[in-house]
Amino acid sequence: MNYRHIYHAGNFCDVFKHCILICLLESFAAKDKPFCFIDSHAGIGLYDLQSEESMKSQEWQQGIGRIFAASPPFPKWVADYSNCISQCKHTAREDLRYYPGSPYLAKLLMREQDKIILNELHPEDAKLLKATFANDPRVSVHQQDAYQALKALLPPAIKRALILIDPPFEQPNEFDKIAESLNLALKKFATGCYAIWYPIKNRDAVRQFHHKIKALNMANILVGELNVLPEDSRFQLNGTGMMIINPPYQLKEKLEELLPWLWKVLSIDNQGSYRIFTL
Ligand SMILES: C[S@@+](CC[C@H](N)C(=O)[O-])C[C@H]1O[C@@H](n2cnc3c(N)ncnc32)[C@H](O)[C@@H]1O
Repeated sequence: MNYRHIYHAGNFCDVFKHCILICLLESFAAKDKPFCFIDSHAGIGLYDLQSEESMKSQEWQQGIGRIFAASPPFPKWVADYSNCISQCKHTAREDLRYYPGSPYLAKLLMREQDKIILNELHPEDAKLLKATFANDPRVSVHQQDAYQALKALLPPAIKRALILIDPPFEQPNEFDKIAESLNLALKKFATGCYAIWYPIKNRDAVRQFHHKIKALNMANILVGELNVLPEDSRFQLNGTGMMIINPPYQLKEKLEELLPWLWKVLSIDNQGSYRIFTL
């Protein structure tokens, strides 16, 4: 396992994924009834953008750096995202330093009655994750392979559930592993809301993934994609996507407000595009 998310925290993919995650968490929290959030590839939870690793890659400059430099008005979910970041240890808006990963956004936006179930395989990152959430009674942390964890954790005790699947795509067969895992997960827990993040480097690979998921015959699958470069820029991370199975009410309308704004702020010289469609 070579991948460490600290090198990538706050990059344009994180901005896209985390704004959508905020839309999802807020939709779930709109009703009093408890819900649970399962994060199969959790990372460490909170990232120091002034760490040696972040300073080395500087990826966040083209992501959250651009968001913090953008002018209002902001879509609601971007404003909420900025508020979450402002709650992470530093106070001044100019003083962007600590960046919340998906587990930390859940910690900030979920209520006392909710449960947060985190899983991270990397031994050092799992240790950091456990330390960050040690004092939060809503949180449990697991350290195993994500796809084994999903088998073990589904169906959850709380039946209103949001499941984030956010792998590093280090393995060439990651798309296949997600599809296999979802096939099983949906048999065990068909009513969960599953949010699957993916990179757009190779459109054929993404197309095949969409075909595989479509073959699972779920009625309600929404996809949002954002490219910051043209799709035919070879061997680069040109864009990012999120597939949401069983999306909450009006998520499509929310993405229709969010993605054009994100594209305008994050695209490199107005290249690339965004798309929202049902699969
Ligand atoms: C993209 S990062 C997750 C970022 C996090 N979800 C966030 O948004 O803040 C992917 C994480 O998956 C972990 N990982 C890689 N392979 C895994 C596996 N098979 N099972 C569980 N975690 C894995 C990596 O160590 C890394 O921390």
